[in-house]
Amino acid sequence: MNEKVVKSSSSNRTVTLVDNATGREFSFPVISGSVGPDVIDLRNLYQDTGFFTFDPGYTSTGSCESAITFIDGNEGTLLYRGYPIQDLAEHSDFMEACYLLLYGDLPNAEQKRRFEHDITYHTMLHEQMHEFYDGFRRDSHPMAVMVGVVGALSAFYHDSTDITNPRHRMIASYRMIAKMPTIAAWAYKYAIGQPFIYPRNELKYSENFLHMLFANPCEPYVINPVLARALDRILILHADHEQNASTSTVRLAGSSGANPFACIAAGIASLWGPAHGGANEAVLRMLEEIGDKSRVPEYVKRAKDPDDPFRLMGFGHRVYKNYDPRARIMRQTCYEVLDELGVRDEPLLELAMSLENIALDDEFFVKKKLYPNVDFYSGIIFKAMGIPLSMFTVLFAVARTVGWVAQWNEMIEDPTQKIGRPRQLYTGATRREYKLLAQRA
Ligand code: SDX
Repeated sequence: MNEKVVKSSSSNRTVTLVDNATGREFSFPVISGSVGPDVIDLRNLYQDTGFFTFDPGYTSTGSCESAITFIDGNEGTLLYRGYPIQDLAEHSDFMEACYLLLYGDLPNAEQKRRFEHDITYHTMLHEQMHEFYDGFRRDSHPMAVMVGVVGALSAFYHDSTDITNPRHRMIASYRMIAKMPTIAAWAYKYAIGQPFIYPRNELKYSENFLHMLFANPCEPYVINPVLARALDRILILHADHEQNASTSTVRLAGSSGANPFACIAAGIASLWGPAHGGANEAVLRMLEEIGDKSRVPEYVKRAKDPDDPFRLMGFGHRVYKNYDPRARIMRQTCYEVLDELGVRDEPLLELAMSLENIALDDEFFVKKKLYPNVDFYSGIIFKAMGIPLSMFTVLFAVARTVGWVAQWNEMIEDPTQKIGRPRQLYTGATRREYKLLAQRA
C-alpha cells in the first residue's frame, strides 16, 4: 500500500562521541532524509558503547523512517506525501487525502471513484455491534465508547487478520476508515437516546457523517453543503501529523503484531488526553470558564505562572514553534461556518480572538514560541455546527484514523521494523536481601 519506506541516504559523514572519563571515542553514521534534520544512527549505541540514550518524551528522537507526513516546526510547514496542507485543504477532499496518505500519491479519476466506492461499501457495522453500546452508561464520555467499540472490532473480521498479508491489511484499513464515522455517530445517538441512523451509500463521506449524527427517523435531514465542506476540510487538517503521541501509540502497539483494530483503539485512548486530541474539548471549556474578554489577562497570567498547572489550551506544540498551519486554515473555516450559520458575532469567537491577540503579543508566549494550534479554533466550529463538546475529540479520532492506518501499514511494510522496546535510566533500589515478615520493624 505504501511506497518502499527505506529511502534514506547515508554518506561517509559521522558524528563522534568522546567519553572524557576514558578517552574512548565512538563514531556513528549520519543519515539524511529527503528533507528535514539529519539523524545520527544510534541503533548500535548500546552494543558498541554500553550507553543508552536518555530522551524522555522523545523530544530529539526519531522513532522510525517515514515517507507519509513532514512537519517543519520552525517554518510552520505541514506536507502530506509532499503536498502542502494549504493546497489539500483548498483543492482536495477527505477521500482524496485518505488515498494520498495510504498510497503515496493523488488518485486519478478512476482510482478515486473506486476508492470512494470501496470505502462507502464498508460503512455499515455488524448488527451485533449495537449490543456493545448497550453496555455503556448513557452519560459515558463518547471517547470511552469509541475505545470500547473500536476495540471490539478486533473480535470480528477473522477474514483479514493476517497482518503480513497485504490484502488483509488493505481490507482492515478500508474497514477502519469506513466504519469510524458510523461508530462515532452511533456513540452520539446512544448518548442522546435517539435511534442509530444507518449510513447511506449515495452520500459522500462527510455528508454521510453529518447525516448519521443529526438525521432522525421522523423527518428528512437536509445536509448543508457549506457545513459538509467545512467538516470535510477539518477532517483533512486532522488526518495525519507524523509521529505524534497517538500515532506512536498505534505504531508501538502494532510493532508486536497485534490486531489492527486493537491498535487503533490504543491510538484513540492516547488521543483522548487533553494534552493531545482532547485539547479541542478543553479549549471550549477554558473559553467558557474565562467567560469574558475582561478576564483574559487573568488567565494569561495564570498560564505564565510556573506554579500554576493551568495551561492555555489550544496553545503550544511540541514541534510547531511557529503558527500551526492548520490553525490558520481552521480560523478561516471558523469565519465561513459562523457566517453561514449567521452567528458571526459568536461571543466565544470574539473571546478566542482576544485571547490569541493578547497571547501573541505577550513576551512569555513569544519567548516560548507558543502559538495557537489545530485545536484552538476547531471547538468553536464544532459548537456552532451543533456538535456537543464531548464529541469534539471523537471527530478528531475519525479524521486521524487514516493517519494511524497509513502509519501502521508503513511500519508493517518497513523491512527494518522491529518490536518497539525502549530502555530506561533506572534510579530505584539496588539489589537487597529479602526480609521475612517477622524480621521487619
Ligand atoms: C495536538 O504532536 C502532535 O503533532 C499533536 C497534534 C496532532 O495533530 O497530532 O498536533 C495535536 O495534540 C496539538 C496540541 C494540543 N494540546 C494543547 O493545546 C494543550 C496545551 N498545550 C500544552 O499542553 C503543550 O503545548 C503541549 C503538550 C502541546 C506541548 O508540550 P511540550 O512538548 O512540553 O511543549 P514545549 O516543550 O514546547 O513547551 C515549552 C515551554 C514549557 O515550559 P518550560 O518547561 O520551558 O518551563 O512552554 C510551556 C511548557 O511548559 N508551555 C505552555 C503551554 N504549552 C507549553 N505554557 C503555557 N500554556 C501552554 N499552552
